[in-house]
Amino acid sequence: MRIGVLTGGGDCPGLNAAIRAIVKRGSSEHGHSIVGFRNGWRGFLDGNAVPLDRNDVRGVLVHGGTMLGTARCHPDKEPGGLERVREVVEAERLDAIICIGGDGTLKAASRVADTGIPVIGIPKTIDNDVVGTDVSIGFDTAMMIATEAIDRLHSTAESHNRVMVVELMGRHSGWIAVAAGIAGGADIILAPEEPFDMEKVAKRITYRHRSQAGFSIVAVAEGARPSEESDWSLDTTTDEAGNPIAGEIGQQVTREIQARTGYEARLTVLGYVQRGGTPTAADRLLATRMGVAAIDAATLGVTKKFTAVRGPEIVLEDFSVMVGKTRFVPKELLEAARGL
Ligand code: F6P
Repeated sequence: MRIGVLTGGGDCPGLNAAIRAIVKRGSSEHGHSIVGFRNGWRGFLDGNAVPLDRNDVRGVLVHGGTMLGTARCHPDKEPGGLERVREVVEAERLDAIICIGGDGTLKAASRVADTGIPVIGIPKTIDNDVVGTDVSIGFDTAMMIATEAIDRLHSTAESHNRVMVVELMGRHSGWIAVAAGIAGGADIILAPEEPFDMEKVAKRITYRHRSQAGFSIVAVAEGARPSEESDWSLDTTTDEAGNPIAGEIGQQVTREIQARTGYEARLTVLGYVQRGGTPTAADRLLATRMGVAAIDAATLGVTKKFTAVRGPEIVLEDFSVMVGKTRFVPKELLEAARGL
């Protein structure tokens, strides 16, 4: 078989481990030819193909990012995009496509699969917001990076008796802020799943500084929002697509905390550091497992499914389970984050 592979959407550590597994398992175990496409669906539409063999993936396990490059492009949103996909499939004599991406890229993959082209998806995003899988590639590394940053903020916050606000990625979910906030011992965690009351935040900080410790750490997800009841609202913090603008909520929350409490407050926006560098062992293992499951499924002619973690297993879930949905932080984890 000839199997195409692409990585779309935001990059994350672990992508190269998935590509490596697809190439090595596909060529050695199944005798397939693997055809990589540069820059996600954009490269696919441009026919930007590159054959991949074992030599091409040697040593990539430790490298962050994606050796194929990526882009935010969805064929079903491009004029004639789906027809162009079929043209490229025929020109490259592809039997199937493996698409590694987040919710947007996998939604596009499901539209391609609906045209009859066999497609298998692999969920990756540091946001961990793909419905149907317990975890997505990239989340563990982002959580580790964010936790280490929060650990480091403690010493400088304590030295200056300051409120240290750290803004974390996650788009419309709070997985990184909640998980790293708990792991890193943040005193207050603000997540989109639980709109916050700014006056209560200020009172908790004031109480802590007066009675417990002269500093605080506040982890804010970029998609967090004040509640309707709050006496405070945000200025615009999203772009025209409704996605968070990095740094916006962090700045506004930091300013408001200082104004209400009188304590010095400083902001750290972790931004793209959360998507950089070498993947953790957990992400390498997860990506390898998903790559193997994807190429094995493609070999069997399976389509319209994506690899998913369910407890100890990797299973195949229908695209329909995740399309148009966001996986939010569950109540149990929000409870664990509250008032530790
Ligand atoms: O989806 C991953 C992510 O890092 C989000 O957490 C963040 O809001 C977004 O990508 C940033 O998008 P871009 O890389 O296009 O600036």
